[in-house]
Amino acid sequence: MVSYKEIKASNALLNDATAPRAAVFFGGTSGIGKFTIKALVSTGASVKIYLVGRKSSEEGARAFIQKLHANNPKAEVVWNEGEVSLLAETKRLCEVIKSKESRVDLLFLTAGYAPFGTRKETAEGLEIVQGLEYYSRMLFVLHLLPLLRGGEASKVVSVSSLGISAATIELDELDLKKPGNFGGVKAQWQYGAMNTTTPEMLANENPDVTFIHSWPGPVNTGNVWRGTDPNSIMSWVVWLLLEPLIGLVGFSDEESGQRHLFQSTSAAFGGRGVPWKCKPGVNSLEKQANGLFLVNNKCDCTPNAKVMPLLREKAQGKIWDHTQEVIQPYL
Ligand SMILES: NC(=O)c1ccc[n+]([C@@H]2O[C@H](COP(=O)([O-])OP(=O)(O)OC[C@H]3O[C@@H](n4cnc5c(N)ncnc54)[C@H](OP(=O)(O)O)[C@@H]3O)[C@@H](O)[C@H]2O)c1
Repeated sequence: MVSYKEIKASNALLNDATAPRAAVFFGGTSGIGKFTIKALVSTGASVKIYLVGRKSSEEGARAFIQKLHANNPKAEVVWNEGEVSLLAETKRLCEVIKSKESRVDLLFLTAGYAPFGTRKETAEGLEIVQGLEYYSRMLFVLHLLPLLRGGEASKVVSVSSLGISAATIELDELDLKKPGNFGGVKAQWQYGAMNTTTPEMLANENPDVTFIHSWPGPVNTGNVWRGTDPNSIMSWVVWLLLEPLIGLVGFSDEESGQRHLFQSTSAAFGGRGVPWKCKPGVNSLEKQANGLFLVNNKCDCTPNAKVMPLLREKAQGKIWDHTQEVIQPYL
């Protein structure tokens, strides 16, 4: 475990020279994304942040931005509104960012929630959580990769649920559309595997960009309620068990933000960024080199040596082919 003391010491080294100069947050209107923006802006460094979110969050986001500017006048936080569960809207937002920036140092992706309820689709026919946690995120990555390439310490950090250790996914039904084939746990394994194999492939193709798939551990953001149908058995489980448990054992908002700022900026993952004198992390290929890092709530790297070779051999190609079919119209 990387101790909180070590994490704060690393983050304390962030300044105008070492902090990301331009960062894009998809999911920064609440929870871990918001905590990480707060931690980044509190460094006092000169940063430009694109905060992307839907219309219903605009008012709260603008109040948050005002506080951030008061806390650090050198930080420029720009609000970009769009219905981010839709790929067409994600494409439009990416085009806006690309028209304004030639370089992005950090892409931080947190939009999504645990799909504990029944299957619900976006107007484009994607299950909402899969859209948010996989397809929209990958679309952001593919659009912004040209801006991330060639940076000194460019990073893509994607925070999502369990699933990074499951090899049992449905390759012929990646979107779990068939009647009766969708379930909260199954979906999380499925999306987790997709969110591991595709970033690993992109990391291999882009050796100057560091990819992190982070499992944040419990953080009391209200996330467990988002996908829960009212008055369902699951809503009782969340109310009586899950939420109190998360409140009891979860990370504080502040520690969660600091831990994710550390992942976003430390050379512990891939050797670029704020110098790291302890043991360097190992990537998904079990190497102390740049690539994709599977990072757990303790900020330890968990390369999943048993499962990753299976996913690589049996699933990676199929997942990528299917992903291209879905997102091609929006590239
Ligand atoms: N918190 C935990 O304990 C925990 C544990 C394990 C994994 N995770 C995963 O980690 C990621 C981040 O978690 P978090 O707790 O920080 O999440 P969160 O605060 O509940 O939400 C993160 C973001 O998702 C956006 N979002 C949710 N539903 C949306 C929709 N239908 N359309 C557009 N945007 C939507 C939210 O936008 P609005 O502000 O507009 O609602 C928010 O910006 C999620 O994928 C979550 O499943 C969380």
